[in-house]
Amino acid sequence: MNNQRRAVITGIGAYAPEKVLTNADFEKIVDTSDEWIRTRTGILERHIKENGEGSSDLALRASEEALNRAGLTPDDLDLIMVGTVTPDYHVPSTACILQEKMGAFNAAAMDVQAACASFIYGLATASAHIHTGLYKRILVVGVDCLSAVTNYKDRSTCVLFGDGAGAVIVESRNGDGGDGILGNVLRTDGRYAKLLWIPTGGSMQPFLSESADRERVFIEMEGNEVFKIAVRSMVSAAREACEQAGLTVDDLSLLIPHQANIRIINAVVKRLGIAEENVFVNIQKYGNTSSASVPLALEEAYSAGRIKPGDNVMMVAFGGGLTWGASLIRF
Ligand code: ACO
Repeated sequence: MNNQRRAVITGIGAYAPEKVLTNADFEKIVDTSDEWIRTRTGILERHIKENGEGSSDLALRASEEALNRAGLTPDDLDLIMVGTVTPDYHVPSTACILQEKMGAFNAAAMDVQAACASFIYGLATASAHIHTGLYKRILVVGVDCLSAVTNYKDRSTCVLFGDGAGAVIVESRNGDGGDGILGNVLRTDGRYAKLLWIPTGGSMQPFLSESADRERVFIEMEGNEVFKIAVRSMVSAAREACEQAGLTVDDLSLLIPHQANIRIINAVVKRLGIAEENVFVNIQKYGNTSSASVPLALEEAYSAGRIKPGDNVMMVAFGGGLTWGASLIRF
């Protein structure tokens, strides 16, 4: 990485809607039990947006917190990137809507779509932009309202998903201060595209076309297959990001994995050989919030005092595409 310019995280924010769906609520909706959900996923509750709210509304709350903590105003931003699979609209991007809501009119704005890995993809892209010198103050958001694309009749997926947002400010710093984004790994395998997808509603199957199956506008997932690939992909991405930075997993102060399933997290942690106390888990409160999962956990870890100056923090995510990636940051 270029030592002249560092991409440093200077502000972190997060937001989750107030409304909560508990496992007991799901017992009334589908044939399931609190015991099944807890033991198979680790989830106790998830936050769900109100009708009339969109991803941009959640993103706004998280972004304002990140901006305040960085000591910046909206005018200071020169790029906004929003990672999401649940944009407010197909067109324009949610980043454009967010730009208007924030009043950040000096910033270019675009969405990044890599399913649950969107935030990591956004962060890596922000880091690259900082290193070229093209942008200096970038807002990267991970936000999703999965409740909008969840089939509440399908017990194998509906218990998993929730809504939320997380955001970071990435700024350019000169010289070798030691802190900043040390390693980025992005990987994709499109051969598995249909293991986790929404079949209807895009250009292939427009929602109102004759041939469209209008029942299939929700996330569909072959959970078992995704599970296996998720574990090995996140392990390899985390190791590779360490290698890039000239570190080993023993040098990590904290691992923040994508919060999709506690059994996936436990398997990743075991294979990497990381001590449990060095892993941040909040899946019990939010479920899988897709693009928001990692930055939401990052903010909670930060607010809980789990991240100190000099700490090496590894964030690793995995999602539809299939996509996965890791980002290693020294704070
Ligand atoms: N309650 C009760 N029983 C259930 C439920 C439920 N909510 N859901 C499924 N079952 C049943 C199944 O019908 C099946 O019953 P059967 O044996 O009679 O056929 C049994 O439980 C086992 O089902 P599996 O699918 O084998 O359960 P598994 O242990 O694999 O857990 C899960 C399913 C939680 C989906 C898991 O596979 C998983 O977490 N996969 C990965 C998800 C993931 O990481 N996604 C990536 C990111 S998501 C994104 O990008 C948006």
